[in-house]
Amino acid sequence: MKKIFVANFKMNKTNPEVLDYIQELNNHLPESLSSDVCLCLPYTSLCLGKFLDERIAVGAQNMHEEDFGPFTGEISADMLCCLGVKYVIIGHSERRKYFNETNEKINKKIKTALRHGLKVVLCVGETKVQRNSKRTTEILSQQIESALSGIFENELKGIIIAYEPVWAIGTGKVASSEDIEEAVKTIRKLISSHYSKQAAQDQKILYGGSLTSGTAKSILKIDGICGALVGGASLDPNELIKIISWFSLKVI
Ligand code: 13P
Repeated sequence: MKKIFVANFKMNKTNPEVLDYIQELNNHLPESLSSDVCLCLPYTSLCLGKFLDERIAVGAQNMHEEDFGPFTGEISADMLCCLGVKYVIIGHSERRKYFNETNEKINKKIKTALRHGLKVVLCVGETKVQRNSKRTTEILSQQIESALSGIFENELKGIIIAYEPVWAIGTGKVASSEDIEEAVKTIRKLISSHYSKQAAQDQKILYGGSLTSGTAKSILKIDGICGALVGGASLDPNELIKIISWFSLKVI
């Protein structure tokens, strides 16, 4: 399966900084790039996506579930599409935590994004407290079942699931291979029981949480992991290039 790398800039970089980044990235992209790569830029920089090498897609970090209307400060799927955006992150733990995004809202956002032809990067993952109380499987089940409620099997091809344990995000602590394998198994089991074995097998699953060029190799070798959602490390174009290059040089 083709690897997928999604960079999440979060609330970082002004437009001049993004332009410098794009120039550096374009100049050093491996010729043999064989993975799908997407940069999820802040809203204010999405218009700069047109300067990216054509092999790199542009993504947004969020969107509103309604098509239009009186939602001051919000951004619709149509607005993203008009800027050439192809991917959208939905349900990131920071949105769940700081902006009270519920599983129900996330489900609505996914349906709207799919209706507009956007590829969804659905984030799921347990907190440290949930993990310590051995509730990881329960939390993943809740998050995935509600996020995918009313979604048909043929729509799953538009959804990438990113397993991002909350305790690993921005902490420098990477989940162990065993933890990641276990989460991947849980996710596939859920997809299999709600859809089919084939759907479970085809489901694209990424890992996210303190991934760097130093840890990428071992994480991306884990059975069933198709790529990564990279936060902090992606802010340095050379780090991102190192992460995506390894898989461009070695066909797995
Ligand atoms: P870090 O890579 O900075 O831990 O962030 C991961 C993340 O939240 C990506 O969405």
